[in-house]
Amino acid sequence: MNRPYIICHMVTSIDGKVTGNFLSTPACAEACAIYYDINRKLQSNGFICGRVTMEGSFTGGYTPDLSQFTPVTRENGTNKDFIPDKEHLTDFYAVAFDPKGKLGWKSNRIMDPDGDPGYDGAQIIEVLTEQVDDRYLGYLESMGIPYLFAGKTEIDVSLALRKLHTLVGCETLLLEGGSIVNGYFQRADAIDELSLVIAPVIADKDDKPLFTDSTAADFECIKTEFINGNTVCRYKRKK
Ligand SMILES: NC(=O)c1ccc[n+]([C@@H]2O[C@H](COP(=O)([O-])OP(=O)(O)OC[C@H]3O[C@@H](n4cnc5c(N)ncnc54)[C@H](OP(=O)(O)O)[C@@H]3O)[C@@H](O)[C@H]2O)c1
Repeated sequence: MNRPYIICHMVTSIDGKVTGNFLSTPACAEACAIYYDINRKLQSNGFICGRVTMEGSFTGGYTPDLSQFTPVTRENGTNKDFIPDKEHLTDFYAVAFDPKGKLGWKSNRIMDPDGDPGYDGAQIIEVLTEQVDDRYLGYLESMGIPYLFAGKTEIDVSLALRKLHTLVGCETLLLEGGSIVNGYFQRADAIDELSLVIAPVIADKDDKPLFTDSTAADFECIKTEFINGNTVCRYKRKK
């Protein structure tokens, strides 16, 4: 396979939703604890999240003042990926699907020592489209944050994964939401396994499903466990 093996690891409600207030209710606390426990045990080279999830979990909406950074010129429309020396990178990655370059990082690593376990210290990688501001590239380079181009306006999931495999060396990555990025992967048929912790709650009508705009696909259930009232399932893509 010329791309990393992708395991989509998520907490869901009984009705298959993955966003909304139910995630922070006491009824879902045990499911979240199980989720982080499994997250630490799954062997991977890191995790992928959409821009909204990265903002909510790690950057808190910080935006850098781009006027302070030297634009990286893209001569004749060439969009050159930026990967600093591999020896300066860690071997665990936080891959942000951030098409327009909106995320404001204060370090090239996830700095979250008191946060959810399993993320602190991960090397950030930005996956961008050609829409990104040249000054944002200058900002990322000044921070030592690698970036990869994959698409004009939307991120081409297959191209992004090929680059993460060939340029960064990722063999297995966890896809950890939210609904929109999961949907892009599902439509690209780039999900090899699902690891779901199903909390014993029903979500609100406005909460989003596991995959936004999914297409039909078959999976086989390879493991089921019941842990303190939660159902934990593994599914494998049927080819
Ligand atoms: N239940 C769980 O286990 C779990 C796990 C993680 C997150 N969450 C929840 O999920 C919620 C966020 O989910 P969400 O669905 O709203 O957003 P999301 O998937 O986190 O991020 C969506 C954004 O990512 C960018 N994006 C991702 N893939 C793209 C592609 N292929 N092409 C173009 N753009 C792409 C776009 O950014 P732009 O908008 O900048 O264009 C898009 O709007 C959070 O509230 C969080 O609580 C739940």
